[in-house]
Amino acid sequence: MEEKTISLVQDSFEKVKPIAATAAEIFYSKLFELDPHLKPLFPSSEEAMKVQGNKLMSMLAAAVAGLSNLEALVPILQDLGKRHVEYKVEPFHYTTVGEALLGTLETGLGDDFTPEVKEAWASVYGTMSDVMIEAAY
Ligand code: HEM
Repeated sequence: MEEKTISLVQDSFEKVKPIAATAAEIFYSKLFELDPHLKPLFPSSEEAMKVQGNKLMSMLAAAVAGLSNLEALVPILQDLGKRHVEYKVEPFHYTTVGEALLGTLETGLGDDFTPEVKEAWASVYGTMSDVMIEAAY
């Protein structure tokens, strides 16, 4: 992965961190708008969705921080991908989640979500989801 891509993603994620809880909320509302069928896969209580949102943001934070050391990150993503099979996640769902993630970053970052930042995130999410999917299916 290119240094430039890594730094664009890491620097922009720093700006999302202070609004992580809101970003998680935006993410799930975008996700369920894009595909309402995904809703039953997730916990139904609001409280449990907050916990879920925290897990997602912490995992993203760890992944973003670990981009310069992909060898260490890959086995973590492979295990995560395998666990997602048990959550009834299908490979095509990764496309929808990617769209919801980019949409959330666009809302959260505003003008800082430049085409360059968007492309860097698309590349990082693509790599992460490829590793998860390949290990799982
Ligand atoms: C890069 C992509 C993704 C990341 C980083 C991610 C992260 C996580 C994390 C950290 C958890 C907590 C449980 C665990 O660690 O096993 C989780 C659970 C879950 N994820 Fe993902 N996920 C990704 C993609 C997806 C996709 C594509 C879907 C499809 C809708 C999905 C749906 C779920 C569901 C249903 C759960 C379990 C909720 C529950 O029952 O508590 N995730 N995810």
